[in-house]
Amino acid sequence: MAPLLQSSQPWVEKYRPKQVKDVAYQDEVVRVLTNTLETASCPHMLFYGPPGTGKTTTALAISHQLFGPELYKSRVLELNASDDRGINVVRTKIKDFAAVAVSSGQRQGGYPCPPFKIIILDEADSMTEDAQNALRRTMETHSKVTRFFFICNYISRIIEPLASRCAKFRFKPLSEEVMSKRILHISNEEGLSLDGEALSTLSSISQGDLRRAITYLQSAARLFGSSISSKDLISVSGIIPREVVDALFTACKSGNFDIANKEVNNVLAEGYPVAQMLSQIFEVVVEDNDLQDEQKAKICKKLAEADKCLVDGADEYLQLLDVVSQMMQALSSMQS
Ligand SMILES: Nc1ncnc2c1ncn2[C@@H]1O[C@H](COP(=O)(O)OP(=O)(O)OP(=O)(O)O)[C@@H](O)[C@H]1O
Ligand SMILES: [Mg+2]
Repeated sequence: MAPLLQSSQPWVEKYRPKQVKDVAYQDEVVRVLTNTLETASCPHMLFYGPPGTGKTTTALAISHQLFGPELYKSRVLELNASDDRGINVVRTKIKDFAAVAVSSGQRQGGYPCPPFKIIILDEADSMTEDAQNALRRTMETHSKVTRFFFICNYISRIIEPLASRCAKFRFKPLSEEVMSKRILHISNEEGLSLDGEALSTLSSISQGDLRRAITYLQSAARLFGSSISSKDLISVSGIIPREVVDALFTACKSGNFDIANKEVNNVLAEGYPVAQMLSQIFEVVVEDNDLQDEQKAKICKKLAEADKCLVDGADEYLQLLDVVSQMMQALSSMQS
């Protein structure tokens, strides 16, 4: 590969595990699929869970490992949300592919090549209900020669009749430890130096989403060079610096409305998104040991209301001001 192409390749692709056994932290599915590789038998599968936890990676890896590069094109059909997957496509493309007969299973070139095809429906939660319903028959009639892999974030958006035909696997958000290990591996490969603080910041701000962590790492490397600090990572991630959140919280504690109002104005003038601010205030409040449970509850309820209002298009300044004034009220009841 040309060096230029190599360097411009996103690291999420470059470090996407090629083999099922390299998928970290999802032990259950890895165990079942390793078994599939040995026995060449496989049920329909449904992978669900939050973003960046390895669902697409796992489905692609098992398909490649089962069929190898030569058969891959003829045996695996990948469709994701960017492809049209309305009812017509289900009736034609998917059905046609599912119906094609395959030769009996014989190992070829070191790959198991089991006697079925795989249809991967990535981001299946964006398929319409009609399209999903149209798949029910197809799944049954062609189950001898076809296996379906459904991948989605929200299992509740997959209709029950499809879900009940599949073996379901929930992909968990990656633990900070596993995440750090993977990040450390990538930074070693790329020749980056990350101190312990930066590493733990990165694991905690990405909240179990490894794709997000890798993307932040690459952006930071591009902007700040090979030595990356915790502050660099925060600045590329769109997280509001802790000092800003603390300043707002302290202003609320002071009980002086003018000071609090000034902080609110500061936050908006700096251009920090208020929705992000709310979720960070939430963390500060929950972790604050000086607060009583009742006070926490009051504040959190207000945060939730304001968040909903923002989603509905309310004014950021007014919402934050409202939250701040309610927080001042809740906090003042602590001192009395
Ligand atoms: N469990 C994991 N082990 C190793 N790498 C992982 C894992 N999960 C995610 N990654 C890394 O994150 C990237 C994105 O993962 P992937 O595309 O599989 O996410 P996904 O679960 O399909 O997310 P989405 O729901 O957003 O589609 C991969 O390229 C890989 O580098
Ligand atoms: Mg995916």
